[in-house]
Amino acid sequence: MAQLWGGRFTKATEQQVYDFNASILFDQKLFDQDIEGSIAHVTMLAKQGIITSDEMDDIIKGLNSISNDVKDGKLIITNEYEDVHSFVEANLIDRIGDAGKKMHTGRSRNDQVALDMRLYVRKEVQEVSDDLRTILETLYKLMSENLETFMPGFTHLQKAQPTTLAHHMGAYFEMFKRDYLRLKDIYERMNYCPLGAGAFAGTTYPLDRDMTAELLGFYGPTLNSMDSVADRDYCLEFLSALSIIMMHLSRFSEEIIIWNSNEYRFVEIDDGFSTGSSIMPQKKNPDIAELVRGKTGRVYGALMSLLTTMKGIPLAYNKDMQEDKEVTFDAIKTVKDCLELFNGMLETIRFNSAIMEKSAAKGFTNATDAADYLVMKGVPFRDAHGIIGRLVLFCIEKDKSIDELTIDELRSISKDFDEDVYEAISIKTCVDKRLTVGAPGPDAMKKVLDTYRTFLDEINN
Ligand code: ARG
Repeated sequence: MAQLWGGRFTKATEQQVYDFNASILFDQKLFDQDIEGSIAHVTMLAKQGIITSDEMDDIIKGLNSISNDVKDGKLIITNEYEDVHSFVEANLIDRIGDAGKKMHTGRSRNDQVALDMRLYVRKEVQEVSDDLRTILETLYKLMSENLETFMPGFTHLQKAQPTTLAHHMGAYFEMFKRDYLRLKDIYERMNYCPLGAGAFAGTTYPLDRDMTAELLGFYGPTLNSMDSVADRDYCLEFLSALSIIMMHLSRFSEEIIIWNSNEYRFVEIDDGFSTGSSIMPQKKNPDIAELVRGKTGRVYGALMSLLTTMKGIPLAYNKDMQEDKEVTFDAIKTVKDCLELFNGMLETIRFNSAIMEKSAAKGFTNATDAADYLVMKGVPFRDAHGIIGRLVLFCIEKDKSIDELTIDELRSISKDFDEDVYEAISIKTCVDKRLTVGAPGPDAMKKVLDTYRTFLDEINN
């Protein structure tokens, strides 16, 4: 047991207590951030004359050697230490002696862990943003290639109106674009440095908090030392953004699963992204999409878990907050894996455009356009709606689609039908004429695609 405290204790900690209290097995993920934060801290201590520059040099050299040895596998992080902070400090003192004992001057583990976690989450916000950028590029490519790939759009999972694959993919582009922007907002709000808050009340040493904030790439120091050690809002914001990303991925997965089913066959998932059955030789299952959908629950769970942990904690630091780590780490890994695998699946999926188009032509997806046709001929919309409703019933009886009826059959329902109706209600016309901003008409979509290109170029720089 290597602990940073013990002076006021008269007996050793019970082993079970030690194990229950220790966080080293999971907070070792913060190792790089702990080293980086300590280097910034001692650099500032030396500049302020709180330690000498020789001491600073020794400490920084010691920290770098610990870092290298851990990376090379020469030094193993074990549960002999309470947490990652104790591990680093104990090893530093072993290596450089007394100067090492000065590293923690003017610092508490409370602001240290607050800093480490913030640095870690900040890095992960950027990495998840990168994954989102990748998926946005994949969607952009799919959209550009499928402006005239017709397919049915659904409401209530029933065919509703014709649209295009580009339009459908564009809906997800919008969702992931908002997810990306949400992360950007979170970054802006969280990018302030808690180091120097001490246990919660600052310190009497003349620390230069602006300096450490700058060294660590923050916009500036946090402005209330009590809040600095007690705040985990940025983790909650991140978990909530991650939950929304999973919700989007899960809906997308659900659609891929439906489209991949034997009944739809809109898509064929690449063999590299499918799995088989141990008993049914014919099976090729969409397991990746199903797992992404399934893992959504555990990311929501992480959000609920931390919200609940935080809700009753009095200010300032309490050990409950150590519970922020495992759930946050797990959610981050889950979302990154899901985004990367989903993107791989999407890049390699094959869309059966002939089947999608045929499906769009069936199921009366042009019924609204047929009603609009009658409106154009002078019939009030509500009457046109009723006429087409009767026409659909007629079609169901004859087992035909509207455009398969003869002109005489059409005119038996309404005298306002003329030969030009066939052109007016073709799937192509139905889509091409939908030209309002955000609609599937290829000319409207091209303009939207241009703005997406500008957006992607901006965020890629
Ligand atoms: N392992 C602790 C955590 O993750 C570090 C902070 C410990 N601070 C303390 N006052 N016990 O929160």
